[in-house]
Amino acid sequence: MKLVVFSAQPHDRQFLGAAFDDRGHSLVYIEAGLTSETAAAAHDADAICCFVNDDLGADSLKALHENGIRHILLRCAGFNNVDLAVAGQLGLTILRVPEYSPAAVAEHTLALILSLNRGIHRAWSRVREGDFRLAGLLGFDLSGKTVGIIGTGRIGQRVCRILKGFGCHVIACDRQPDEQLKTEGIEYVDLPTLLGESRIISLHCPLTLETRHLINRHSLTRTRKGVLLINTSRGALVDTQALVHGLKSGHVGGVALDVYEEETGLFFADHSMSVIKDDVFARLLTFPNVLITGHQGFFTEEALTNIAATTLKNMESIVLGQPDPACVVRA
Ligand code: NAI
Repeated sequence: MKLVVFSAQPHDRQFLGAAFDDRGHSLVYIEAGLTSETAAAAHDADAICCFVNDDLGADSLKALHENGIRHILLRCAGFNNVDLAVAGQLGLTILRVPEYSPAAVAEHTLALILSLNRGIHRAWSRVREGDFRLAGLLGFDLSGKTVGIIGTGRIGQRVCRILKGFGCHVIACDRQPDEQLKTEGIEYVDLPTLLGESRIISLHCPLTLETRHLINRHSLTRTRKGVLLINTSRGALVDTQALVHGLKSGHVGGVALDVYEEETGLFFADHSMSVIKDDVFARLLTFPNVLITGHQGFFTEEALTNIAATTLKNMESIVLGQPDPACVVRA
């Protein structure tokens, strides 16, 4: 089978290449992201493979369909970038990788919490300049603090357990509370309570119509002064303008983001020699208490190995006509 891989990065060649090696398939890597304009590049493929910021909106899906594509393999868990209604109307099969390494994202979340709280990112650059002052690096003990987790699925659960190990009081909010977590001392509360009580809030729910801008001007007014906000889930869970407002006023004590609502076209590329045109993002970068990574939560060897293995399995399941129901994405 021929698979056209959009938004291909060197690591995609490495890990997909290793998984697909000797299976008799042909892989074509395209650096460009999928859009309605680039869809034609897939015209003779049996399937295409996409990532988080590929545009799988109505126009792209129609362009793919016109080019004979019927199968789309997402090499990620999230599918908020897919117009599922149109995919259904066109009869497209969408398969994803529902779980590849919750540990990868959970551990990155902790890395962000620890770095933001203790100013590790600032200390690193100061020390390199021979500046060993401590001013501005004051943090707080995680032990004993209340941390709020929004979304206790695969990743959120891991974060809860790691934070428990740090001695935190972990409260959580989810439409479907996990009974096992409750027995481990995680307390489920409603969203207003979580917002009001948490010293740190970490987002681990999917991006849906309901959760878009879950963190906005109104919800931020309900949070404690000095709250640290962590988002490793999807950028549009947070209204970034509201976040900038909260940071400027001093109400928000710090922010760590691995995702950004307008990250498409920005993340996964080198813009170091050009001007960043997104004024909101540029403003975020000016705050000393903002730490941003470019959507790297998933980026571990184990995660990439598992993503590649499931993507191969998904592709071969197309031939057999037996896609794994856990991987099928429908409206
Ligand atoms: P999951 O599907 O296992 O868990 C999501 C949880 O959120 C579920 O328990 C669900 O009930 C809950 N939820 C849904 N709507 C909610 C709401 N309105 N309020 C509170 N909880 C709600 O998903 P998983 O695997 O834990 O991933 C979470 C998110 O992490 C994904 O949706 C994806 O956006 C993001 N992600 C980020 C990565 C990165 O590299 N930064 C990599 C992988 C996933």
